[in-house]
Amino acid sequence: MLSQKAIDIVKSTAPILADRGVDITTVFYKNLFIAHPELLNFFNHANQKQGRQQTALANTVYAAALHIDNLGVLIPAVKQIAQKHRSLGIKAEHYPIVGKYLLLAIKEVLGDAATEEIIQAWADAYGIIADVFIQMEIEMYKEAAEQENGFSEFKNFKIVDKVIESDIITSFYLQPEDKSAVPTFIPGQYITVRLTIPGETYLLNRQYSLSQAPNQETYRISVKKETEMSPNGRASVYLHQDGQIGDIIEVSSPAGDFYIDLESTRPVALISGGVGITPMMSMLDTIAKTSPTRPVTFLHGSRNKALHPFDNDVRDLMSTMEDLTYLTLYSDENQMLTKEILADKVLSNSDIYVCGPVPFMKAIIQSLYDLGFEEGHVHYEFFGPAVALELV
Ligand code: HEM
Repeated sequence: MLSQKAIDIVKSTAPILADRGVDITTVFYKNLFIAHPELLNFFNHANQKQGRQQTALANTVYAAALHIDNLGVLIPAVKQIAQKHRSLGIKAEHYPIVGKYLLLAIKEVLGDAATEEIIQAWADAYGIIADVFIQMEIEMYKEAAEQENGFSEFKNFKIVDKVIESDIITSFYLQPEDKSAVPTFIPGQYITVRLTIPGETYLLNRQYSLSQAPNQETYRISVKKETEMSPNGRASVYLHQDGQIGDIIEVSSPAGDFYIDLESTRPVALISGGVGITPMMSMLDTIAKTSPTRPVTFLHGSRNKALHPFDNDVRDLMSTMEDLTYLTLYSDENQMLTKEILADKVLSNSDIYVCGPVPFMKAIIQSLYDLGFEEGHVHYEFFGPAVALELV
């Protein structure tokens, strides 16, 4: 339990964190990686360079500080982060290291303003916040290990097929090296792929949505070809250029809280932009197999035909479904997913799932709210650290 005094100190100094949060977390990461370079085996280096991770951590610490006497309200956000931590293999023993360098960074950035009393209050608060994460993650590791064919951390998978889906998207079919069956997942979830790349000092971790319905044999991911400079760059370039059938890569058990409600009988709208189509393919494939009479609207925005993946697959699934509305719009031809199209195609009372680049998502979600769709029925996932997540 945090003392009332510590609660008061943390709450009254929280605005300083909001102001200087990114400075603090930038200093934090710099010093953390100097002292513990081995932690670079967990972090996405490009997200670091772009400051995205710093913003995500600063937002979370600030939100936690504001709600330090009622952390329950943060549980959904904590769950999402804990899922990511679990899929990366973050453990209880890492938390004191992060805590130490976070407090040192607060001291360094705030200077004389950070009195002993303030630092102690923040140390106590961090301990409490960390404990919420640690307990939740312990449960998640346990669940991952205990499910059928489950494994709690990384496992070796073999690339058993590599299929070009468009000029920039290629699918990889992954099977456990020991030929065991794979644990199931809920369509919309992702796996972390951990790569050992020749010439790279540290392991590279990337999350990829699973892009087909669950089955016993394989996971399929569909990877966009990026440039080296983008957040997914190094891993994507490596997989596209060097990932070959027969190669072994490490994969962690499926994770993530963006997934379809398969129990619901409401109509479904699956709306994607660019490579955001990948979780939608898993959702669509699953609905086609398990509830083909459920009305589905599948809307996709792509730049042009050459960059548009899975067109034939959607059409094949369509022929097995009773009520699928399918529309793709090409922005190079000035076709946009407007509010009017959403009003026309998305059935009222639909469960709506949206995935794509941040500006696309913001525009679609705003239009859906303007059209009166309920917040509780609109689900979405940002790629990369949830920079736009409004926690407070
Ligand atoms: C991701 C917060 C502790 C390693 C994240 C994200 C947040 C966050 C907000 C972004 C989630 C997303 O991408 O959606 C926190 C908080 C912590 C904490 C508040 C302490 C209470 C740790 C620890 C480690 C760690 C102890 C291990 C050294 C990571 C990694 C990622 C991550 C590797 C993925 C980042 C990437 O994409 O490179 N964390 N975290 N975190 N966290 Fe933590």
